[in-house]
Amino acid sequence: MSVFEIPPAEILAPPIFPEREVLDEVLYDYLRRSDRMGWSAYDLVDAEHMRDLARPERLNEAQRAAVKTVLFVEDHLPGYLSEYLRVTTNPNLPDAQHIVNRQALHYTFRWVAEEDRHAHVLEMYMTKTGLITRPELEQEMLRERKTAYTFPYEQLEEAFIYLALQEKATHLYYRALAKDVDEPLLKVILTKMGADEASHGKFFYELLIKHNRGDLDLLSRKISAVANDFKMPVQNNLLNYRRQLLNMMRAAPSYKHTDVFADMMRAVEKAGQQYHRDSLTLITPDLAPFVKE
Ligand SMILES: [Fe+2]
Ligand SMILES: [Fe+2]
Repeated sequence: MSVFEIPPAEILAPPIFPEREVLDEVLYDYLRRSDRMGWSAYDLVDAEHMRDLARPERLNEAQRAAVKTVLFVEDHLPGYLSEYLRVTTNPNLPDAQHIVNRQALHYTFRWVAEEDRHAHVLEMYMTKTGLITRPELEQEMLRERKTAYTFPYEQLEEAFIYLALQEKATHLYYRALAKDVDEPLLKVILTKMGADEASHGKFFYELLIKHNRGDLDLLSRKISAVANDFKMPVQNNLLNYRRQLLNMMRAAPSYKHTDVFADMMRAVEKAGQQYHRDSLTLITPDLAPFVKE
């Protein structure tokens, strides 16, 4: 077949993302990490923890509101997942991309299970501590879930950068909120959730860095472009989002949104130095016999 017979769609198709070997490697690390980190929502909100630890009266107004907002964000999962599946199962993608996308679903399904655990544990926490009744909370969750979630990126690499920033934002926010609340049981729950978010962030960081190891400057530029437009997860979906966001910030004053971008850029920078050092160690022994003192 001459080059003129290649269908235009294939000429224009972006390169496969991520590389197969990179995905295998990062997936292995994530799934093994997840196996070790497993926890149950039921263990955290059981009768014993409620009796010994829970002090919901110590939460101020903003913190109660923030916990609810966090729950709404986590509970957007059904919309999130269906959008993710829509993008990754697009029939116009080349076969090679479909093969990689199927492999990536091994990550997605575990990840989604962990995010679902976050919504579940917060829902049980709020109702069992008496912060809100179950019917009331269910109505509010239903209302917040109803707005359709539209994934802002069609290209998988940009989408993964966006997700990496989201995961880092939730990790840093849960860590800050755990530090700033004076309610022991919520601290424990947020610490568990934060550890999951850190692990999700690590998956995306490693995947993006390893895939772009040949040109990390290009990756930094792509991250800047996505970060410029980055908002907290489901920002456009929540009712009275500005008020909810304000409460979130009041509830956890030690959270700094700019730290999210800085953290990801630092990870890329560190990887660049590591690759540089590794390439020097690889080259030096071979060069040694030829270099005169
Ligand atoms: Fe989460
Ligand atoms: Fe997460």
